[in-house]
Amino acid sequence: MGAEQHDAVEVIIAKRERGELSDSQIDWVIDAYTHGAVADEQMSSLAMAILLNGMNRREIARWTGAMIASGERMDFSSLSRPTADKHSTGGVGDKITLPLAPLVAACGVAVPQLSGRGLGHTGGTLDKLESIPGWRAALSNDEMFAQLESVGAVICAAGDGLAPADKKLYALRDVTGTVEAIPLIASSIMSKKIAEGTGALVLDVKVGTGAFMKDLDKARELAEVMVALGKDAGVHTVALLTDMSTPLGLTAGNAIEVAESVDVLAGGGPADVLELTLALAREMLAGAGRDDVDPADRLADGSAMDAWKAMIRAQGGDPDATLPTARESHVVTAPTSGTLTRLDAMAVGLAAWRLGAGRARKEDPVQAGAGVVWHARPGDTVTEGAPLFTLLTDEPERFDRALASLEGGYDIGDAASYSASPLVIDRIS
Ligand code: URA
Repeated sequence: MGAEQHDAVEVIIAKRERGELSDSQIDWVIDAYTHGAVADEQMSSLAMAILLNGMNRREIARWTGAMIASGERMDFSSLSRPTADKHSTGGVGDKITLPLAPLVAACGVAVPQLSGRGLGHTGGTLDKLESIPGWRAALSNDEMFAQLESVGAVICAAGDGLAPADKKLYALRDVTGTVEAIPLIASSIMSKKIAEGTGALVLDVKVGTGAFMKDLDKARELAEVMVALGKDAGVHTVALLTDMSTPLGLTAGNAIEVAESVDVLAGGGPADVLELTLALAREMLAGAGRDDVDPADRLADGSAMDAWKAMIRAQGGDPDATLPTARESHVVTAPTSGTLTRLDAMAVGLAAWRLGAGRARKEDPVQAGAGVVWHARPGDTVTEGAPLFTLLTDEPERFDRALASLEGGYDIGDAASYSASPLVIDRIS
């Protein structure tokens, strides 16, 4: 039985005129676009109409379902343990997946984490892990399944079979000014996470200068739509709204973020990285029905570190190998003494990107050792002439532009003018 036929122009005009798309129009347009029967220029026009005129919850749910149906759907229900995953909307210094996946695995819940490479100022989890000698991101579905059973955690590249409609549409949105539509972001993220087959999902929706969503109301709306989509698909879904006006931890880059993650697994690491790792781990465990386990205990007893090493080894990496370092470094010192009252996530993210830690086009390589280390976090005392940032790159000609992006990216003032803001702003369930 074939799906009802429509015409791309009819669907575009319906949305241009602020109409509701029918289920059959949505199913048809996604299927036809995936198979090349709707042209890129038609889909980009529809995406712009959606960005301008929105979609209601029914339309978003159907759009998400149609994108899931464009590809394969994984099923981990035969694993011996429950599954939980986390998705972050992307932030600067956001290495949380690295300590989180093995930590949750050490608590008895399997983590099937399909990740991406970074584009723009927020780094990609796979780029970070690829700085570990030997580690490989590509796994077959069988390898993924076997590793989830044996180690309990997998972080690997999403294969081409998962929501191919989204892959094509996301690339189109990227070059047509239509990324920022909440219905399209929510359906894009959730189609991949639902198709991935996780039983529970925790969304880390970032808010602030370094995030996709700069505005709290918009971030909340995105979180609410995604939580509703997850629940409707039978996935236990909650979202945390978390601050991304300040970068996470003390590093933004690839190898340097791996090193910081290993510090957390070893029982140390920056307080904010530890706090968010534990908050997300508790949500994942609760979603998977294992809130009887305290993840802090698994960090303290070394079992999270054991799971990390097993996870890296299972994908060909050497967890004990020396990580690559950048050939050149440049230290920026504090111009005055006082309290660091602001450190802007976007400024730091842009600097790391310009140093070579990120890529401008998706086919570009990244430098494993490049990035930014900051030696103080907001609230810390800094001393004139002491190191504030260390910039790292293999190509010293990159320093000038990285330094330019840090200008105006921080303030040093009186301790009295600083007030700490919470890292976890809200929880949506
Ligand atoms: N990440 C995605 O996967 N899709 C979007 O639309 C935005 C961010």
